[in-house]
Amino acid sequence: MTAMHTGSVAVVTGGARGIGLGCAMSLAAKGFNLALVDVLEDELEEATAKLRATGVQAESFVADVSDFARAAEIAGDILERFEALGVLVNNTGIGSAKGLLEISEAEWNRTIDVNLKGCFNWSEGSRSIDAGERLGSDRQHRRVQRWYGQQARLRGFEGGDTRHDALAC
Ligand SMILES: NC(=O)c1ccc[n+]([C@@H]2O[C@H](COP(=O)([O-])OP(=O)(O)OC[C@H]3O[C@@H](n4cnc5c(N)ncnc54)[C@H](O)[C@@H]3O)[C@@H](O)[C@H]2O)c1
Repeated sequence: MTAMHTGSVAVVTGGARGIGLGCAMSLAAKGFNLALVDVLEDELEEATAKLRATGVQAESFVADVSDFARAAEIAGDILERFEALGVLVNNTGIGSAKGLLEISEAEWNRTIDVNLKGCFNWSEGSRSIDAGERLGSDRQHRRVQRWYGQQARLRGFEGGDTRHDALAC
C-alpha cells in the first residue's frame, strides 16, 4: 500500500462493475479509500465487500449520475463519512450498438444525460460543497481546501487553481 494516499477517498461513478470497479481496485491498492456510486444496488454491495477485503474503507451510494440534486446530496454524504476527498473518477457511461440515425430522441437524450451531464453533475456537485452552498460550515470548507491541497501535491502543482483538474479527472 502506498502510504501517500492513505486516508484519501476516491469517488468512482459507475463503480459497481467493469472498468469502474477495476479503477476502484487499483486505487485501493494505492491506499485510497473508496466511495462507489452506481444504480446497481446488489453489484455495489458485492464490489464494496471486495474492496473492504483489501483493507480499505469502502462505502456504496446508489444514485443515477444524471440526477443533479442527488449528486450534490451524495457528495455531501461522502465528505461526512470520509476524512478528505482525493480523486473523482467520472467513469459512468452507457452506449448503444445502434447508429445515430437509428436511435430515438429519448435514447439520444438519455445518453447525453448519463455520459455528459453525469460528468458535469458530479464535478459541479463537488464544487458546490466548496462554495459552501450545501453545508456552509467552516469545517466543510477546511475539508475541501485540504482536498484541493492534496490534488495540487498529487499533480505536482505548488499553487494556482487546480479545482477543475481535480474534479474532472
Ligand atoms: N468497455 C469498453 O471497451 C469501453 C471502451 C471505451 C470507453 N468505455 C467507457 O468506460 C466506462 C466504463 O465502461 P464499462 O465497459 O466498464 O461499462 P459497464 O457497463 O460494464 O459499467 C458501467 C457502470 O456504470 C453504471 N451506470 C450506468 N448508468 C448509470 C447511471 N445513470 N448512474 C450511475 N451508474 C450508472 C452501470 O450500472 C455499470 O456499473 C464507460 O463510460 C464506457 O463508455 C468503455
